Amino acid sequence: MRSTAPAFPAASPFAIQPAMPESETLLELCATSEVPEGGALKVEREGLVLAVFNLGARYYVTDDACTHGPGSLSEGEIDGEIVECNFHGGCFHIPTGRVEAPPCMVPLRTYAASVVDGKVCILPPAPR
Ligand code: FES
Repeated sequence: MRSTAPAFPAASPFAIQPAMPESETLLELCATSEVPEGGALKVEREGLVLAVFNLGARYYVTDDACTHGPGSLSEGEIDGEIVECNFHGGCFHIPTGRVEAPPCMVPLRTYAASVVDGKVCILPPAPR
């Protein structure tokens, strides 16, 4: 007798993927306690210069360098989910990196962040 159940291939697009891989593949950046509420911390790891943001105990990680010039976004002004560059006042949406105000034109690189044992971690980015 034939089964009427649908047969999905092993690599079905409907398969549930884990949000993050095992913690040993994550790059540890800092302790959550090092990032002030509503603030940011500049972190340098493995050739990356990053800004770690704490927005209401949710942590976001972006490149620290403004895409417009020499501004450091960890030293920028934070208003809600927006960071204003300390150099020319361009703005980015922290969770997505989207440009919010000129003179910036290029979105900010963001990283999938997670908290493991009180540490903010990211997936090491693939080489460019
Ligand atoms: Fe950031 Fe110009 S360097 S807005």
